[in-house]
Amino acid sequence: MDSAKLTLDPAFEVGPVERRLFGSFVEHMGRCVYTGVFEPGHPQADEHGLRRDVIELAREMGVTAVRYPGGNFVSNYEWEDGVGPAAERPTRLDLAWRQIETNAFGLGEFMTWLRAVGAEPVMAVNLGTRGVREARDLLEYTNFPGGTRWSDLRIKHGVREPYGIKVWCLGNEMDGPWQIGGKTAEEYGRLAFETAKAMRRVDPTIELVACGSSNVRIPTYASWEATVLEHCYDQVDYISAHNYYDAASGDRAGYLASAVEMEQQIEGVIATADHVAAKLGSRKRLKISFDEWNVWSHSRFGGEDSLDWAHAPRIIEEDYDVAAAAVVGSLLITLLNHADRVGIACQAQLANVIAPIRTEPGGPAWRQTIFHPFALTAGHARGQVLRAQVTAPAMATERYGEVPVLVAAATLDDGELSVFAVNRGDRPLPIEIDLRGLPRATGISHVTVADDDPGARNTEREPRRVEPRALAGAAIDGDRLTAVLPPISFNLLKGTFR
Ligand code: AHR
Repeated sequence: MDSAKLTLDPAFEVGPVERRLFGSFVEHMGRCVYTGVFEPGHPQADEHGLRRDVIELAREMGVTAVRYPGGNFVSNYEWEDGVGPAAERPTRLDLAWRQIETNAFGLGEFMTWLRAVGAEPVMAVNLGTRGVREARDLLEYTNFPGGTRWSDLRIKHGVREPYGIKVWCLGNEMDGPWQIGGKTAEEYGRLAFETAKAMRRVDPTIELVACGSSNVRIPTYASWEATVLEHCYDQVDYISAHNYYDAASGDRAGYLASAVEMEQQIEGVIATADHVAAKLGSRKRLKISFDEWNVWSHSRFGGEDSLDWAHAPRIIEEDYDVAAAAVVGSLLITLLNHADRVGIACQAQLANVIAPIRTEPGGPAWRQTIFHPFALTAGHARGQVLRAQVTAPAMATERYGEVPVLVAAATLDDGELSVFAVNRGDRPLPIEIDLRGLPRATGISHVTVADDDPGARNTEREPRRVEPRALAGAAIDGDRLTAVLPPISFNLLKGTFR
């Protein structure tokens, strides 16, 4: 068989599209903050030093939630350094990335930037070198109305109304041997419980994320989640998942099929969380916060100790090609297909560091290839995710054996159907979509992110080489929609059914 079939029925739903699935991540790392989102003196900078061109691109991307300030950075961070008059802020050593941190950008600048982007914060607290007290102090600063030490300090800093930050991550990758102040699962589980308890006393309306494993290859994967959650299950709402998919790993077909690993991880973490629920006799169900995911050739990274002290160094500035856009598209599709159990997802990161947006200091900002599947999915996934039944030709991978060449998800919102589909094979893929149960279509369109050269990229000199383009040929006949997906491509098929 060399064509694929997708069956959709409006009676079979996964759940509503969670807007927080289209999250991103701004870490004080490399040039994500400095010369990324923040560059006083840049021709595009506003009065706060925020780059307007990057704000515009983040809005165009449809970013809904942004995790901050790390990442590994948060585990050695003192949030007090980044608030108040900029001239009085200390310069510190950031041990995570061996960076000189000026603290010119901090919480207030981030919240101003976020408001301009129109997204909500996903704030992380330092549970590496700090603990319960500093986390509850920060929450008092951000969310308490006034009349106390930390809330009055916020008001003194010019912010009368509380920020009202809802989502809080209890540390970052606390299982990682690279993490400053890393913990065993027992140590972290206890600390997460105590921190959550104190934070909920300050503001009972917050939503808390416990740290899951840093990736699926770490030896403590799954047992970490089980132990941590046995301590803090009742106190948290989410368990985090992180994973980066490596283009430099050798097995190209396996890389193109990275979504298989994401799906296995989602299912594994949910099974572990549900196992703890059963053990505790709890009817509550946790969701996953997949708050770091992206394509990153981390096997090429020399490690933190290979870095030299610098401010805003160029580290891990991945150049993405069309194949990476297809992989990123397939990861977004996988998140959508698990919208019933994945409540938050943050692509890591937003600018320059493993990022869809690239900038040059004093120069332009442009969209990398992976920008486009994100923007198309965030812009068009609305309403309910439908269960996508896929039958497709198989492709062989070293890592996962045979996998279908087609990855697809669909959403339906008031008669507007959006089908997101990735052809991860290297031949054109005819697809037939069985739309049983939907009324007659009144319009159909097909947009693709593809190129004759799957290695094509966008660069400073050629920033628009890869862009979404409309394809002719999609047709509808009764309840059958047909189209041809180009090789290694991300696709959006849209129809109106009323
Ligand atoms: O996003 C880059 C780094 O990857 C983050 O700081 C860390 O959490 C992860 O290991």
